[in-house]
Amino acid sequence: MPNSALHFNVDAVRMRLPGRRIDWFQSLDSTMIEAHRDMLPGRIVGAEAQSAGMGRHGRKWISEPGAGLYVSMILPAKAVPVIMLALGLATRDAIGGGADLRWPNDVLISGKKCAGVLAQIEGDAIIAGIGINVSQTEFPGDLETSATSLLLEGVQVSREDLLVALVHAVDRFCQLTREETLRHFAEASSYASGRRVRAEAAGKLVEGVTCGLDPAGFLRVREDNGAETIILAGGVRPI
Ligand code: BTN
Repeated sequence: MPNSALHFNVDAVRMRLPGRRIDWFQSLDSTMIEAHRDMLPGRIVGAEAQSAGMGRHGRKWISEPGAGLYVSMILPAKAVPVIMLALGLATRDAIGGGADLRWPNDVLISGKKCAGVLAQIEGDAIIAGIGINVSQTEFPGDLETSATSLLLEGVQVSREDLLVALVHAVDRFCQLTREETLRHFAEASSYASGRRVRAEAAGKLVEGVTCGLDPAGFLRVREDNGAETIILAGGVRPI
């Protein structure tokens, strides 16, 4: 059955984002790969479906046709992980601001992931990949318990409105200073401090309570023996 959500009105979005180059595809392997072909600053690449959507840590990003927003944007390079935090904050803001952020940038509603962000550094630019689950009603395998969509959480928004809001939010959050970004993250994320988590650090599993971000934006975890460990690469899970 044809899915009306597949008819993404890219011309309407172009009118609302004058001066931005938006390349929209029915299907791609990954918007990250297409974005890499022409890294014009500000360029936005989107697809209705991805056959090889990339997630963080080498995982796949399941990209059901027409059910999600799958985009990559070319941004000027900025310090990592601040850019990761800024992109998560922007994505949260675009979907309405009430969501939680699991360090560094998983966007959660009711404890389940509704959006994820990938940042690939390429010389003096970043390819920011953002995937938002918009209207999925089910998820395969393990994702059934850990993933959700805006629709399932009662958030009704068109993908066109979402993309416009996302582009404005990314522009805004990427202009913040490091200090401002860290402060916004601490306010927005229930994971920033006081949260009991398990995470990987230098190849070993660490358990403890989060105790803020270090000045660079990495997550600090206080282990039960009192030692403080800095988490550099995500994989943070509540326990
Ligand atoms: C994560 O694992 O949380 C990051 C997911 C990022 C998915 C988006 S969808 C658009 C862009 N293209 C990709 O192949 N991945 C990112």
